[in-house]
Amino acid sequence: MDIRVTNISSLEWTGDAIALGFFEGTEDLTGDLTGDLAQLDTKLAGTIAELIAEVEFKGKAGSTAVTRVGSSTPIRKVILVGLGKADSDKLDSYRTAGAAIARIGKRQKCKTLAIHLPWGDRNPALVTQAITEGILLALHQDHRFKSDSEDKPLTLTTIDLLGLAGQEAAVEFAQKIISGVTFAKELVAAPANAVTPVTMAEAAQNLASEYGLALEILDRADCEKLGMGAFLGVSQASAIPPKFVHLTYKPEGTPRRKLAIVGKGVTFDSGGLNIKGAGSGIETMKMDMGGAAATFGAAKAIAQIKPDVEVHFVSAICENMISSTAMHPGDILTASNGKTIEVNNTDAEGRLTLADALVFTEKLGVEAIVDLATLTGACVVALGNDIGGMWSSTDTLATEITKASAESGEKFWRMPLEEKYFDGLKSDIADMKNAGPRGGGAITGAMFLKQFVKDTPWAHLDIAGPVWADKENGWNNSGATGYPVRTLVHWVLG
Ligand code: BES
Ligand code: MN
Ligand code: ZN
Repeated sequence: MDIRVTNISSLEWTGDAIALGFFEGTEDLTGDLTGDLAQLDTKLAGTIAELIAEVEFKGKAGSTAVTRVGSSTPIRKVILVGLGKADSDKLDSYRTAGAAIARIGKRQKCKTLAIHLPWGDRNPALVTQAITEGILLALHQDHRFKSDSEDKPLTLTTIDLLGLAGQEAAVEFAQKIISGVTFAKELVAAPANAVTPVTMAEAAQNLASEYGLALEILDRADCEKLGMGAFLGVSQASAIPPKFVHLTYKPEGTPRRKLAIVGKGVTFDSGGLNIKGAGSGIETMKMDMGGAAATFGAAKAIAQIKPDVEVHFVSAICENMISSTAMHPGDILTASNGKTIEVNNTDAEGRLTLADALVFTEKLGVEAIVDLATLTGACVVALGNDIGGMWSSTDTLATEITKASAESGEKFWRMPLEEKYFDGLKSDIADMKNAGPRGGGAITGAMFLKQFVKDTPWAHLDIAGPVWADKENGWNNSGATGYPVRTLVHWVLG
């Protein structure tokens, strides 16, 4: 499918369907259609005005309506799409509109589709990018695990963005970024018998060879040499070997910055001997490598976008399983920075894997580290499924992430690194425990991670909620969301 930018006007365009965008409260909706819209309406025998009146279309963000015009008309269907309030400077409504239009175009079996949205005084490149992102996110379909796919291949062959001639670069940028998001989504959506530490390492190898990234994979013995007792403790019950993956993107010339992204990569979280019980969502725990998936997705996007920033992508990948070689609750592990951890709960495993990943990453001498993890159910309780938690050791990094998240539309809320809450992790026998009290569980998780970063500015993103969508929501289809690949890319680009 081609997404084209063109200055063909809505009056000249011919094809299966045209989607028209409206701001809430615009004169076109409250009074009579004006300008080109009025002319187009005349050409289409009054269909647009009729549809607006019939469905009482108000232009609310994400709202849509569709009708058939006729068979001999140059345009066969009209789609209305709401853009919400005209004064909002956010681009989210364009991403949502792109997604909504694409879904209708697909459902209506259109081959050719035009999109004509007003953008007011917004930057047309950013508008183009947001619409394209919405389209590509909504049209992604995943039939890898169906023997007989019900969904026919996409009928859509071309989508023309009217009035946006010259914005080819913005379309290409969106395509690169969404290829990374889609990569992450497919890793998260695949079950734990398909995506294992070994296949994740293979995926990293493929990325490295296809996009020219440097790759270092540490096997169990290498991790042992580095003293990664916390990571290896989690992996030790699994029949599948752990893989520690380090991808590097290096720009040509001197990098403007040197950054690192670290992702939790637990390909299945059974809970270990503190096994997850009924109602715990154990059957969804294939998504516990969402942090690593987003790390790889960001690597794929960044390797194509080629910014002047060096970026390290690190993930300690393993399964949290049960066997006679499993960690016992109460075991004491020694992490690669020498700190000892009493494992009072084997289900708080993500932080154990991240501990060694963070120590490794800080030794790379980067300017800032961001980790992503489906770390706690408590974060889902606190912020729900639409908002991730963000903790940061410096205000500067928190501000950078907040800006990137506003650009991507992936929401994060800053949470406190409350020193006192480390008290909940005090151990009588070791330097710390890995699990604290129920209350403030997402914060204690962050406080645990903090012990493994000495002085590099660091942020922790808990994505346990938004990594997965139970139902279609804005530009996200149901299932894996690829969160927060787009935020990471914006952060790296600055
Ligand atoms: N992977 C889970 C967190 C999780 C829960 C992600 C729900 C997505 C949805 C994590 O390893 C875990 O089990 N955390 C425990 C921590 C507790 C034992 C301190 C939790 O949240 O209950
Ligand atoms: Mn767990
Ligand atoms: Zn987990």
